[in-house]
Amino acid sequence: MSYYEIQGGRPLFGRLSIHGAKNSVLPILAACLLAPGQSVLHNCPDLSDVAATLDILRLLGCRVEREGGAVTVDASALGRADIPEHLMREMRSSVIFLGALLARLGEAELSYPGGCELGPRPIDLHLAALRALGAEILEEQGALRCRRRNGAPWGREICLAIPSVGATENAMLAACGCPGLTTILGAAREPEIVDLQNFLRAMGAKVTGAGGSAISITGGAPLHPAEYRVMGDRIAAATYLCSAAVTEGEIEVDGIEPDTLTAVLACLEEAGCTLHTDPGRIVLACSAPLRGVRQVRTAPYPGFPTDAQAILMAALAGGEGATLFVENMFDSRYRHVDELRRMGADIQVAGRAAMVSGAGRLHGAAVRATDLRGGAALVVAGLGAEGTTQVSGLGHIRRGYERFPQNLRALGAEIREIPA
Ligand code: EPZ
Repeated sequence: MSYYEIQGGRPLFGRLSIHGAKNSVLPILAACLLAPGQSVLHNCPDLSDVAATLDILRLLGCRVEREGGAVTVDASALGRADIPEHLMREMRSSVIFLGALLARLGEAELSYPGGCELGPRPIDLHLAALRALGAEILEEQGALRCRRRNGAPWGREICLAIPSVGATENAMLAACGCPGLTTILGAAREPEIVDLQNFLRAMGAKVTGAGGSAISITGGAPLHPAEYRVMGDRIAAATYLCSAAVTEGEIEVDGIEPDTLTAVLACLEEAGCTLHTDPGRIVLACSAPLRGVRQVRTAPYPGFPTDAQAILMAALAGGEGATLFVENMFDSRYRHVDELRRMGADIQVAGRAAMVSGAGRLHGAAVRATDLRGGAALVVAGLGAEGTTQVSGLGHIRRGYERFPQNLRALGAEIREIPA
């Protein structure tokens, strides 16, 4: 099993362009199914989750090509509406194909996406939204068989009990195939939802309101393929900024809009970093050990993003001062804590709360990634630690970070991948 070997304590300096957003490109790739013809996506990150999604598109009958940072998807020959279990297991967020397949073909079949390292990942809100849009969904032996009810009045008001990102996206995609006006109330407000709206508009869809909690879609009209540039990945940006902060360096990240991660930037500033932002770029400098941040409570956007919780915790665990984290979005998102403790972190967990007492610099250790962002957090901790850290479980990290060790080395980190 290959692993990263990190010699900690090298301050990071330099400039980095952030890759396209994983959590934006995945629903946008599903949206390519809505119209026959060839769509072109620029700034499409080279990640294992993206590769898995491209495999599903090919299996459904699409022609998919990647040339550098651009991916073309031709959905003219879309020929099937079922996603086999082995592909569903590979990536639970494939549930996003439900809405797009229903809109284009009027049917969809996939196995129940399993839970993941973050705990149970229910899809009840997805199914309720699609049923509200007139879909008939049979759940039997772990499979979901969906079809548009004949003559069902498509288009109506959907109320999401939780501002679920995935359920909002699935409802938007399904509603594009529903004649009439659909309104999604209680919608997620993440920037990735706005990116999806912008892509759908480029396809000719009538979608308004994304970024707010009420999104309206007037569906039914035929759509056409589009060419689009995917937004920068705000969680990847937060990861590199925390890496510079924990090593007391200074970096510039571009290809990212500062207003997509204001909650993270506010915490880094409170921890003692100096930040400068312009449209499309963020500069962070840190010249002393990070201070504690009174409290970090994860919440739906624009609150503090749950995906940055482990990453910021890893940076603060090696600082000086206490921070109370409260993880409100997922039931099991502290699995990185035990690994950080092996590096000397002082973290007390009680339910959703985790009290991090920055005990000064951590020390290197052999640690294992348990999920995508938890794995990235261990790399951040290793960059700031004294001595050598080995991070295994790289498959988790490859899901969401493009050229991670290469980018860090280019900024001055001493990190290399040791093959199995
Ligand atoms: C998206 O997951 C992201 N994934 C996650 O990023 C991110 O952590 C999450 O949104 C929250 O921001 C992608 O976009 C591919 P949710 P999603 O539905 O859509 C509950 C990463 O690291 N819920 O907003 O699955 C759910 O259990 C990943 O890049 C229901 O109860 O998240 C959770 O507690 C990890 N029923 C809460 O809502 C449902 O039907 C928020 O989940 C759906 C969700």
